[in-house]
Amino acid sequence: MNPKTPPLGWNTWNTFGEKINEQLILQSVDKFVELGLKDAGYEYVVIDDCWSMRERDPKTNEIVPDPVKFPRGMKFVADYVHRKGLKFGMYSCAGTRTCADYPGSYDHEFLDARTFARWGVDFLKYDYCDMPFSGQAEFYYRRMGQALRTCGRDILFSACNWGSEDVWRWIRTTGAGMYRSTGDIFDAFESTKSIAVSQMPKFDTSAPYCFNDMDMLTVGMYKKGNVAHGNAATQTFDEYKVQFGAWCVWGSPLMLGCDIRSMDKETLALVTNKELLKINQDPLALQPYMPETCWPNKEEPRVAARLLEGKDLALMFVNFGENDAWGRFHLERVGLPYQSGMKLKMRDVFTKKISYSGRDTVPYHIPAHTCQVYRCTPVNA
Ligand code: GLA
Repeated sequence: MNPKTPPLGWNTWNTFGEKINEQLILQSVDKFVELGLKDAGYEYVVIDDCWSMRERDPKTNEIVPDPVKFPRGMKFVADYVHRKGLKFGMYSCAGTRTCADYPGSYDHEFLDARTFARWGVDFLKYDYCDMPFSGQAEFYYRRMGQALRTCGRDILFSACNWGSEDVWRWIRTTGAGMYRSTGDIFDAFESTKSIAVSQMPKFDTSAPYCFNDMDMLTVGMYKKGNVAHGNAATQTFDEYKVQFGAWCVWGSPLMLGCDIRSMDKETLALVTNKELLKINQDPLALQPYMPETCWPNKEEPRVAARLLEGKDLALMFVNFGENDAWGRFHLERVGLPYQSGMKLKMRDVFTKKISYSGRDTVPYHIPAHTCQVYRCTPVNA
């Protein structure tokens, strides 16, 4: 059954790339529970690319876990994850080879789905490298979709063709529960910004049972790891707040990508911020929108709004630009003109402070590369 709210978890790729093994997974799973990530709602532990041998077993044709990295096999890892009350995710690819050149599932979809089911896999991230024919994503994803539906185990299908080939038009026909709507993230603010901005015209393509996936978070990586390349790489804590805030308000799945074994307190507090997670997991899962007219000037401060369960709405003030921004946000942009007689009671999800808007406007000051997120309730002015 596909989820009604965005899936939450942790994935190995952003920090570890090919440097994965059983010990790392087991330690991370222990830490996952110890740090309270499970209690906060995180559920999936996902092993990305590079877990297998370079070739399939010549006799059975099955993909074989690398015995050096995973000496006790994947079922052992899955059982461990399940004993901790979590769910286990793995990775394959729609093409003949994965993006890091391990065996892909092309023409072995049904065999692989049955193998994953036997191991106790609950989630499959499915990539899009080394395709026999280009421009056919829909057909390849439909094959694995059917293979998963018929494999005898409930496995969440997480498609990853990077938003190409108008994926939003057909992805729901494959049974996927989430799908990458962007290219790969890297640990720099320009990546956070370009992914967040790229979703604005796609807000209406994300919905319950199949969410736009903005890629694994780099929050808390601080330049340690696989996707922390380039001189510009790494972000400040404020920039990570922008990333996590946008992923929450935009309604993306939240897959942590840092090394959770050494996550600092500040990062932990951010990714377990109950009020932000509650916005991300709002039961209505409605799309956000950009109520200001300044769009599409990319350097302008932006206000994002999203209706939440009951009377509430989320407002995010975010400054992707290089200069501090001062201004006034007009509440008529969220359907509350002066004549409504209402103002907003605004609860800052970071500071927990409550403030009130005016009857028609909210003044704001947003320093460069920062954000503020409020849970707001319309009240009589
Ligand atoms: C692609 C995906 C990444 C990651 C790598 C693994 O680039 O988009 O998220 O899974 O492949 O090789």
